[in-house]
Amino acid sequence: MPSTIPVAPDRLPQLLRRMPKAELHIHIEGSLEPELIFELAGRNGVTVPYADVDALRRAYDFTDLQSFLDIYYAGASVLRQEQDFFDMAWAYLQRAAADNVVHAEIFFDPQTHTSRGVAMETVINGLHRACTQAGPALGVSASLILCFLRHLSEQDAFETLEQALPLRDRFIGVGLDSSELGHPPEKFERVFARCGELGLHRVAHAGEEGPPAYVWTALDLLKVERIDHGVQSSKDAALMARLARDRIALTVCPLSNLKLRVFPRLADHNIGQLLDAGLAATVNSDDPAYFGGYLNDNFIQTFEATGLTAAHAYQLAKNSFDASFIHDAMKRRYADLLDATFAQFELR
Ligand code: ADE
Ligand code: ZN
Repeated sequence: MPSTIPVAPDRLPQLLRRMPKAELHIHIEGSLEPELIFELAGRNGVTVPYADVDALRRAYDFTDLQSFLDIYYAGASVLRQEQDFFDMAWAYLQRAAADNVVHAEIFFDPQTHTSRGVAMETVINGLHRACTQAGPALGVSASLILCFLRHLSEQDAFETLEQALPLRDRFIGVGLDSSELGHPPEKFERVFARCGELGLHRVAHAGEEGPPAYVWTALDLLKVERIDHGVQSSKDAALMARLARDRIALTVCPLSNLKLRVFPRLADHNIGQLLDAGLAATVNSDDPAYFGGYLNDNFIQTFEATGLTAAHAYQLAKNSFDASFIHDAMKRRYADLLDATFAQFELR
């Protein structure tokens, strides 16, 4: 990567929009826009306790992770049929394509649906059909990562894994999400060990609100390949050195961190510090319907607030492909596409 890339500051937003990128941290239930919540509620005869779309949107005023999760799980309760899961994923994939996302690894939370009596096949088949169609129809390759809800028990996670195994070829890995504080990674050590035996990729949310110790145990006990969020790692120099040495990617979500008050202002976000320390940070949208922006909004607002440069943009996009679970030939193809986009900007 060139250390300086001569792009005029006023053209940086255009470069950020145009550059090809992978999204590695998107909860599909967090892409459910209020309009679709009301449409699905009508389709399925579910009552939404808000007068209309605007009233629901006005409730998106969070103080921390838990205050968001309460409303996020309530929103997901309108999803009942396979077509609902397809429609939600398809809406996200269309927005991703518009942001020049060429590859997405999509989280889903089956327990929030199976606990309401929705069958595992209904969830996975609807999402998987959208992922399969996105390649030919939208030019976006997409795969699924099944997340365990960490506020539930180890046994519940094991049962969820068992229910999903007949559909093993429809998801590429497992993750760990939901309420972080009080639910350290070690609670799921045995589940993740079993997932490793099954050849599943492993990732986990750690260091979003929780301490650096949770990032250490996600690495050492869960043996994850990426850390979701991980922004609290900057409080621990030895952890920063470990993440840099092992090229463990952090899937950072700046607008999420702002809306959940992990950082008081976007200008205070530590993404530049993480990159400059040699960490493989990436930019992602987390729950874009709730946090006010999809992937390009995250890039553009973060760059504007923190003063990141075109060289950082290149690194972030390159990191997104390198940290993805696609094969090396595809990584090279996307890196070439990235180089071609940057070359266009340098020439003009
Ligand atoms: N589930 C959806 N979004 C999440 C987040 N930001 N942290 C933990 N769990 C989540
Ligand atoms: Zn997340």
